[in-house]
Order: sequence, then structure tokens, then C-alpha cells
Amino acid sequence: MEIKSEILYNDRVAGGYFRLGLACRFPEAKPGQFVMLRVSDGLDPLLRRPFGIYRTLGTFGRALGAKGSPSKMKGIELLYRVVGKGTAILSGRRPGETLGVLGPLGNGFPDPAEGSSVVLVAGGMGIAPLYLLAKRLGAGTLLFGARSKAENVLLKDFRGLGLRIKTATEDGSAGIKGLVTGLLEDELTPESVVYACGPVGMLKAAAAISEKAGARCLVSLERSMACGIGVCLGCAVRTKEHRGEKESRFYKMVCSDGPVFQSEEVDWALL
Ligand SMILES: Cc1cc2nc3c(=O)[nH]c(=O)nc-3n(C[C@H](O)[C@H](O)[C@H](O)COP(=O)(O)OP(=O)(O)OC[C@H]3O[C@@H](n4cnc5c(N)ncnc54)[C@H](O)[C@@H]3O)c2cc1C
Ligand code: FES
Repeated sequence: MEIKSEILYNDRVAGGYFRLGLACRFPEAKPGQFVMLRVSDGLDPLLRRPFGIYRTLGTFGRALGAKGSPSKMKGIELLYRVVGKGTAILSGRRPGETLGVLGPLGNGFPDPAEGSSVVLVAGGMGIAPLYLLAKRLGAGTLLFGARSKAENVLLKDFRGLGLRIKTATEDGSAGIKGLVTGLLEDELTPESVVYACGPVGMLKAAAAISEKAGARCLVSLERSMACGIGVCLGCAVRTKEHRGEKESRFYKMVCSDGPVFQSEEVDWALL
């Protein structure tokens, strides 16, 4: 059910990146889950937009409601980048206004098996759904890829969480010059588990490198979504399953079966 959530803050972090704080009574969100947000009160855009839950806000006292009685509420924070109409409208919404929120949705990231070494791989905005996971794990390595150094501002909250951080930029202005997947091979052993979120080309490369190293790889997929709850079939991806000699192919919904999938079950040829 969609709930009306008050905007607590909607601040520009840098360039087209924003942090949006929402007061909403949610059950505790799992790392990797997302929400569907109605960005405007009108009919345009009609469809809600999906955003990963960046972090949950602690209980805070705040005067809400008609009588102004202080309510203790839990909230969530989203980190988003303006890419089109919906996110442009969202960036103009102000504290005190309300947004319709549906969530938390999706399966989220499973915990790593005991004894595995964790590698998080994020491309640009793909960093957003990884914060809750990084906080929960408090160890491991984070590989972050961006176009240039300016986007490293997104790493601010990750410093001090106990992870080793390595960066790659396409223009060479920070970290190694090139793609973030160029850092991955050296980090992997068969005991590694990789959690990857970012553009599909990055996910595909992370999946191939992990497979070669014998490591487990979990990818968080992004598709355009209309309903977010497995009804419209708009976010279908083709998956494969191996049973002995036999390989079956069938569709799964990114919103309700995912967004997190084992990399080997995704049919990358069709993404
Ligand atoms: C499960 C899930 C979690 C997500 N989490 C986040 C998040 O935490 N933060 C965030 O900023 N975004 C996130 N996204 C992406 C976000 O939903 C889209 O950026 C948003 O819906 C775009 O809406 P729009 O109306 O602004 O753009 P549209 O008008 O729908 O599209 C405008 C242009 O942007 C392109 N575009 C659309 N989506 C993306 C994208 N993801 N990356 C690059 N270009 C895109 C379109 O192809 C089009 O050319 C997530 C998506 C999914 C499926
Ligand atoms: S968005 Fe409707 S089924 Fe996934």
C-alpha cells in the first residue's frame, strides 16, 4: 500500500546528485531493497519511479500531523541522480511536501556465507543500494567506478565503515584510469562473494570475472518499472537454470523476484 511520506530534506550533494530524506513508518528495510516513489501529485509522470533504499533514518522526534503532536517516526534516505523528467521533478520537491511511497520492495542482498571475503562493486549511482550492506558487513573491499573524481563525493559515507576502498575513473582523475572491473580480478579467490550494482555492461563484466575466479557473484539489476510488485510484467528478464545436462530458460520479474540475482542465472545475452 502506498503511504504518504513527508519530505524531511532534499539536498543537492554535488552536480545532479541529491539526498532525499523521507519520514515514513516502514518495517526495517533489508540491504538492497527499493521503493517506488510517486514524484508528483499530478498525473505526469503517471508511473512511480524505483529507487534503492540508501539508508534508514533512526527514530527521531518531530512535530507531524494536524495537532502538531510530536511523533517518533522512522525514515529512509534515498540517493538519486537526475537523469530525466521524473528525477528532475523530484529534485524540485521541497521539505514539508509529501510523496507517495511504496515499499520496501524486492528481495535484497543475501548475507555472505561465513568465512567468505566480500567485494562490493559499484558503478556511479550503483553505489546507492550498497550502503546498508556495507554498514551491516563492516568489512570487505569496495571497488567504486566513476566517470571522474567529482563523483567520489558519493564515497563520503562509506569511509569509516571498515571497508578497504579502491577507485577507478574513466578520465584517470582519481584511482586507476579505466573501468572499475579492471580492479576486480586481483581481489578474487574462490572464497570471495561479489555484490555488484551499476550499469549492465559493468554487471556483465563482473559476472564473467567472478565466474573465471570461481567466486560467487550477486548482481542488482535495473529495469524500467511500472508497478514494482510483479503485476504488470514490465520488468521481465530472461533467466536460465541448469539441471544436470539440461538448461531451462524462463522469465523472472526484477521487481518481485529481484532486483538481486545470482549472476549465473541471468541470461546476459538478452540484457
Ligand atoms: C531497483 C532499482 C533501484 C534504483 N535505485 C536508484 C537509486 O538509488 N538512485 C538513482 O538515482 N536511480 C535509481 N534507479 C534508477 C531510477 O529508477 C531511474 O533513474 C529513474 O526511474 C529515472 O526516471 P526519470 O523519469 O528521471 O527518467 P526517464 O524519463 O524515465 O528517463 C530519462 C532518460 O534517462 C535514462 N535512464 C533511465 N534510468 C536510468 C538509469 N538508471 N541510469 C541512467 N540512465 C537512465 C532513460 O533511458 C532516458 O534516456 C533504480 C532503478 C531500479 C530498477
Ligand atoms: S514492474 Fe510490474 S512486474 Fe515488475
